Amino acid sequence: MAIISSKQPDPQQPDDEPQKPKQKPKQKPEPQTTPSQKNQLLETAARPDEVSRNEDGIRPQSLDDYIGQKALKEVLQIAIQAAQSRNEPLDHLLLYGPPGLGKTTMALILAQEMKVDCKITTAPALERPRDIAGLLVNAKAGDILFIDEIHRLSRVTEEILYPAMEDARLDITIGKGQSARTRSIPLQPFTLVGATTKVGALTSPLRDRFGLIQRLRFYELDELTSIILRTATVLKTEIKEPGAMEIARRARGTPRIANRLLKRVRDYVQVKASGPITEQIAGEALELFNVDPCGLDWTDRRLLSVMIENFNGGPVGLDTMAAATGEDAQTIEEVYEPYLLQIGYLQRTPRGRIATPAAWRHLGYEMPEKPTLVTLSSINDDNDQLSLM
Ligand SMILES: Nc1ncnc2c1ncn2[C@@H]1O[C@H](COP(=O)(O)OP(=O)(O)O)[C@@H](O)[C@H]1O
Ligand SMILES: [Mg+2]
Repeated sequence: MAIISSKQPDPQQPDDEPQKPKQKPKQKPEPQTTPSQKNQLLETAARPDEVSRNEDGIRPQSLDDYIGQKALKEVLQIAIQAAQSRNEPLDHLLLYGPPGLGKTTMALILAQEMKVDCKITTAPALERPRDIAGLLVNAKAGDILFIDEIHRLSRVTEEILYPAMEDARLDITIGKGQSARTRSIPLQPFTLVGATTKVGALTSPLRDRFGLIQRLRFYELDELTSIILRTATVLKTEIKEPGAMEIARRARGTPRIANRLLKRVRDYVQVKASGPITEQIAGEALELFNVDPCGLDWTDRRLLSVMIENFNGGPVGLDTMAAATGEDAQTIEEVYEPYLLQIGYLQRTPRGRIATPAAWRHLGYEMPEKPTLVTLSSINDDNDQLSLM
């Protein structure tokens, strides 16, 4: 293949990793836990042993085995059938949603169902033009190219993708400066499956080139219970349904966490008990591992307790919350709030965030009988200049 020498990606490209605000939180730390006790079992990001293609067979291999996400499955089922009957590749698909909900798994299943290969890569690995060009040129007709964290693509890579996605064409620049020429290489039609946790960070030209844009949502308790029962079968671990439910309750609506907790409980049973995983054993084990009964992690608890202690439960603006807790506003909004909203511990209102009575109860606070006087924080809304701190 021709040597591609195009501009290198801009080294100044803003890194979208959230930056921590510099100042330290002024509030006293939350009583129950400290950051050193941050519970890694509840982290949504995959650990190194959780990224392999089949993960000891835990990853479901077919749409039938993929539990929950009913709407998504229906849409994809139709897309698969339509594509197969026309003998065409699937439409380009963008999957977005919090980590650990099954985006990578779905891409692999699609390849399985379409009987094509799936190449897996991640945006940060596609920095140079030749990285993406290599993948595109080697893709066979109908193959799936899965790009994780697609919101982090470099601009050059993104521009190579546009004609590739639209017309199955690779436009490359050969040479430099005055003698630079552009050449077009025909590609086999392929399907791009992009995954992202931050759909808002995608450029609109890229977003517009996906025929299907689908959101993954958190899983309900019964769905997580089914996932745990299924994984237990794969791992040849005996488990009772109430035991699975006990684990599911603490899994933050996330299959990755559910499977991880199951593995820890399985270790516990092996060492400390015998027989199947029951509700009681699961509860004991997870208490020992310090997993909150609702799956809240340290930061969730801190966000809520700061809202309750310093702002009387809210409403409090996002930026005020960020300043008060020392967390980044975008991280609060995209990483922490979705689960708190899902379990009904937090409400978003036009006047700011509110910790619900359920959150007060869960953290062991007593709600004031009557609404207290209107505080500065409650008229403050999102106007952070007036911040209380
Ligand atoms: N719908 C599902 N049914 C069963 N297991 C699932 C489902 N979704 C995800 N999982 C399991 O959860 C784990 C994480 O899924 P993954 O696809 O890697 O998440 P993501 O790519 O969205 O971060 C995998 O072990 C996978 O087997
Ligand atoms: Mg993934």
